[in-house]
Amino acid sequence: MSKYKEKSIWRHILGQPLHFVHHLTDMLRLKIRFRNSVIRNPLEITFSNLNNIHISDNVIIDTNCILRIINNCHLFIGEGTYIGPYCHISGTRNNIIIGRKVGIGDRVFISTTHHQYDDITKPILTQGFVSKGDVVVSDECLIGIGSYILSGVNIGKHSVIGGNSVVTHDIPPYSVAVGNPARVIKRYNSKKKRWLGV
Ligand SMILES: CC(C)(COP(=O)(O)OP(=O)(O)OC[C@H]1O[C@@H](n2cnc3c(N)ncnc32)[C@H](O)[C@@H]1OP(=O)(O)O)[C@@H](O)C(=O)NCCC(=O)NCCS
Repeated sequence: MSKYKEKSIWRHILGQPLHFVHHLTDMLRLKIRFRNSVIRNPLEITFSNLNNIHISDNVIIDTNCILRIINNCHLFIGEGTYIGPYCHISGTRNNIIIGRKVGIGDRVFISTTHHQYDDITKPILTQGFVSKGDVVVSDECLIGIGSYILSGVNIGKHSVIGGNSVVTHDIPPYSVAVGNPARVIKRYNSKKKRWLGV
């Protein structure tokens, strides 16, 4: 890179509001800490404690993802997992555990909370959040493009979630689940050694 280009980049960075500089620092901390994985820019990250984020080796977090891991929530991403572009992983209560060698398609939303709406005298936006518990995506799963995994959901090992599914309940291991709400349509039969419709 020429000297001129380097200079103009720094001028550009220094001309930004402070939060942009904080963002660069956060990115740098992430990249230094998880150097055996690839975290592609831009990433929007909010965290209360960087120690609550655990990214194993050989993970790829593709471009334009959002990670919000705040309060006491922990995020764990297992070895060899791929997270596609534009995914949003939001943990404000409980934990998000994503296993090893999981494939997560573009635009997947994983959240441990949703908005409280019980009180009709207050706007929903001001009522805070509720959570049904941890989200677990077990080893070797594939989560299809555009899916939403709700709080408290546990997806068992080596299961497939079809594109654009909304996963509201646990999915057993070795299953294919599709739709809104996601229903199991196939399971692996280990005696017959093939996937069978249910
Ligand atoms: C679920 C999926 C894996 C297909 O699995 P499959 O075993 O080949 O399923 P089939 O094509 O035999 O379909 C079985 C039934 O599920 C339905 N189905 C398949 N995918 C569906 C989806 N995403 N949403 C709703 N229904 C779906 C089919 O229409 C079919 O219904 P029918 O029996 O009433 O005709 C695939 O459709 C899919 O959604 N893949 C996700 C791809 C992706 O996002 N990859 C991310 C890349 S990182």
